[in-house]
Amino acid sequence: MRNILVTGGAGFIGSHLVRLLVNKYPDYRIVNLDALTYAGNLENLRDVEGMPNYTFVKGDICDYELVTRLFREYDINGVIHLAAESHVDRSITDPFTFARTNVLGTLTLLQAAKEYWKQPSDAPRRFYHVSTDEVYGALEAAGTFFTEETRYDPHSPYSASKASSDHFVRAFHDTYGLPTVISNCSNNYGPYQFPEKLIPLFINNIRLGKKLPVYGKGENVRDWLYVEDHARAIDLIFHEGKDGDTYNIGGFNEWKNIDLITVLVTAVDCLLGNPEGHSMDLITFVTDRPGHDARYAIDASKLQDELGWEPSLQFEEGLIKTVQWYLDNQEWMDRVTSGDYMEYYNNMYNNR
Ligand code: NAD
Ligand code: TYD
Repeated sequence: MRNILVTGGAGFIGSHLVRLLVNKYPDYRIVNLDALTYAGNLENLRDVEGMPNYTFVKGDICDYELVTRLFREYDINGVIHLAAESHVDRSITDPFTFARTNVLGTLTLLQAAKEYWKQPSDAPRRFYHVSTDEVYGALEAAGTFFTEETRYDPHSPYSASKASSDHFVRAFHDTYGLPTVISNCSNNYGPYQFPEKLIPLFINNIRLGKKLPVYGKGENVRDWLYVEDHARAIDLIFHEGKDGDTYNIGGFNEWKNIDLITVLVTAVDCLLGNPEGHSMDLITFVTDRPGHDARYAIDASKLQDELGWEPSLQFEEGLIKTVQWYLDNQEWMDRVTSGDYMEYYNNMYNNR
């Protein structure tokens, strides 16, 4: 029996992971702990909320008493930790919130796991920390990649906070023997992503005829992975990864921002029935993000060679699927951008 505490399960990647786990493992108990910040949206999980092996708890990962109570109450033997502040631009204006959630929140979970897992048990135990490739800093030359051995060199408050949490996870493994595993993934895209991130923001702006703010000259390079492929990789690493190890996750799929934006505009126009090139004029070059990392590119060969993981979707296919999803789910987008999504579930859980 596995009783897994997933943190941040109401967010973008967390909701895909929760859906996968709840459907794939009917005999597991999946406890989703999420504070429902602006980025948490239980509407992302409507299809699984009534499943018997799923429990939602509204709460903060920094709340040590709550976290220890959940370990006891559900006899937690696995943690998959995704809860975080995740947007670089927000970290530039509010770095303290990132240090609190990403560093202290991770430390709180580690400490609670260490204490609860002092009791002997036959059940396998694992603390899985979901991290980002941004901890490695920026690559310049084409043809170079982040490997699991690349030195940490974070530049934004977001990546600095994630790097710090990764170090705490390794410290708990090395000092206390906590059975940890870490993965560092490249940029994700797909359904249910909060529209502050490039792809959903731009799809929505094109639909509404609003400007597309491209930072700098649009020359920064990102490595994109479909979110369900990330969730599949997490499932695999959680079950088969080696204790104390790190795995990079990425799709070998680098795009210069301006090239990706051009493909995205073309795809959205096509699916909206607009003439080709109709929305290209919306592209607007704006002041660059401070400390903007030039290029990210992941070498995921360890995960492929050791655990046999492969991305399932080609980028063009994943992008069309994603654009179609946002166009088919305009109500989801409108409720997120208007703030209505916060009301229903927040009221329900605040009254408990
Ligand atoms: P997200 O911002 O969409 O979701 C984060 C979730 O965490 C939200 O549901 C939010 O309510 C919750 N949360 C925030 N603070 C909390 C707190 N104090 N206590 C409990 N819950 C809290 O993020 P995402 O894009 O789904 O990213 C999930 C994880 O994956 C993060 O750790 C992020 O660093 C990592 N990651 C993201 C990407 C990406 O491209 N989005 C890539 C690699 C790694
Ligand atoms: P983002 O989705 O914020 O992810 P990250 O910063 O974690 O890589 O941004 C992806 C890329 O797109 C990044 O190079 C910044 C750029 N970008 C823009 O040019 N304009 C925007 O409005 C946003 C949100 C991002």
